[in-house]
Amino acid sequence: MENKTIKRIAVFTSGGDAPGMNAAIRAVVRAGFYYNLEMFGIYRGYEGMIQNEIKKLDSKNIAHILERGGTFLKSARSAEFRTEEGRKKAYENLKKHGIDAMIVIGGDGSLTGAHLFYKEHGIPAIGIPGTIDNDLAGTDLTIGFDTACNTAIQAIDKIRDTATSHDRLFFVEVMGRDAGFIAINAGIGSAAAATLIPEKKMPIERLIERLKARTKAMKTSNIVIVAEGGKSGGAAEIADKIKKQLPYFDIKVTILGHLQRGGAPSSSDRVLASKLGVAAVEGLLHGKYDVMAGVINNKVVYTPISKAILGDKEVDEDDFRIAKILST
Ligand code: F6P
Repeated sequence: MENKTIKRIAVFTSGGDAPGMNAAIRAVVRAGFYYNLEMFGIYRGYEGMIQNEIKKLDSKNIAHILERGGTFLKSARSAEFRTEEGRKKAYENLKKHGIDAMIVIGGDGSLTGAHLFYKEHGIPAIGIPGTIDNDLAGTDLTIGFDTACNTAIQAIDKIRDTATSHDRLFFVEVMGRDAGFIAINAGIGSAAAATLIPEKKMPIERLIERLKARTKAMKTSNIVIVAEGGKSGGAAEIADKIKKQLPYFDIKVTILGHLQRGGAPSSSDRVLASKLGVAAVEGLLHGKYDVMAGVINNKVVYTPISKAILGDKEVDEDDFRIAKILST
């Protein structure tokens, strides 16, 4: 592996924000100071890199941010960074500030950007998985996933109260883009009647059978979790189909939406973010470039970004089985 002398590192957050991003920034900056490095923050992700929104950070910038949701460096999705000219502008701005290496905290799109940038301009880069979707390979969990699941489950508990009072069937849509990780966790954690995820097709007839069986078993209220990227459509679409076939059900739809992206990070996200922030700085100092720092079986591992972004991380077959056993 190449080994460059690294003195100045820039950190930024990109793509959809996730609870724990602030904790990761703090860990990166603190670890940088520990190793006597100069630390910079890039505001608004790749867009800010192109617009030269790059500032030197001191310890005051990162005081009391560990416990806060969102990202104080802000985040953006940049169309210009997808172009070669945009990336060239960004590179020139990094050079102006004498930046030797960068750490990007984000999801697959953000890591893809870092991978391309490294190939084109040779700036050493490490990724930290920060997304509520948990859809990156090379880590058991991504930062923000645990908090988002907790938020979803707490919201569903509240829906459960009113569903029970009125003997209703609720379809609750959760985020996750094309992945069903939040959905399957929320389904198990909230005793859902069924969980529909993009990775597994559940024919509408099977859902109908399940609901009928539950009615027979004297279950008067039901919650069905629908992952937003589901193959049979979103919660509203599925609710419409069920209404046509089972008109006696009193059906409601709730879309949890961006609620799942906010809030104070859970203890597990804080610890994960802290571990990965330190790991990213240490990785760069040990010449590990174009990789993502992740945690597998409680150990830090570095995975080539090209592998982490393949989109082949699968929902555990056993989780799906458990959800099924517990909902019949
Ligand atoms: O990737 C995180 C995520 O929250 C997805 O779960 C969701 O599909 C998407 O971002 C929403 O993006 P935006 O905030 O741009 O609408």
